[in-house]
Amino acid sequence: MRKNIAAGNWKMNLDLEAGKKLASEVVNMVNDEVSNDAEIILIPPFIHLTAVNQLIGSASNIQLGAQNCHQEKGGAYTGEISLEMLKSVGAEYVVIGHSERREYFGEDNALLAAKTKAVLDNGLKPIYCCGEKLDVREADKHFELNKEQIVEGLFDLSKDEILNVVIAYEPVWAIGTGVTASNEQAQEMHAFIRGLIADKYDQETADSISILYGGSVKPGNAKELFEQPDVDGGLVGGASLKSRDFTDIIKSF
Ligand code: PGA
Repeated sequence: MRKNIAAGNWKMNLDLEAGKKLASEVVNMVNDEVSNDAEIILIPPFIHLTAVNQLIGSASNIQLGAQNCHQEKGGAYTGEISLEMLKSVGAEYVVIGHSERREYFGEDNALLAAKTKAVLDNGLKPIYCCGEKLDVREADKHFELNKEQIVEGLFDLSKDEILNVVIAYEPVWAIGTGVTASNEQAQEMHAFIRGLIADKYDQETADSISILYGGSVKPGNAKELFEQPDVDGGLVGGASLKSRDFTDIIKSF
């Protein structure tokens, strides 16, 4: 179901104590200050999931997410984490195909399609990421590239399945750089992605999916980005590591 979402991707940051401190600050600030109906997702490193889940406790507007998963059920995959494991520690969401996974770990659309399907088969929700690098945008191939990532990663799913997917458009040139896509650039790509879903499935399905923007979302730009008609929230990296900033982003809806 389409809803406003603020997801905080901690990436490979914070030791256990610092992670617990951040999570409890966010939980308290959200409790005290947030009155909108946005869904908040905390996405710590795997090893902090259990501790963060305990701190989230019964806060019904805060969910737990993982940054990655393995697509197989289990077995001899040293160093990997299965969906059963993620479920057992309270994860509801799994980020799939973050540009850092695509770039540094060679994850391609075929693998990401398998991971997305596995997440859904396990009753969890994928946050499927797409986004172009700067050279692709400069060559004016960004629509083509995002289309390829969406079609190859998601379009083998049934209508019922894709309704449980959250999409995150994250232009790589805006991630961690301080450069944010303009409101117009974000809206244009989000509308394009929603149009692809409408063409493949139908308009009602497209209108039911949350599409998040990611890439240097900050308290100072969140409101105007989230006001765009096809931007349903943000996947936030750096600013999610500061409880004050992340809470202010949540309050921007
Ligand atoms: P950033 O990261 O907010 O630090 O740019 C966003 C992301 O990679 O999800």
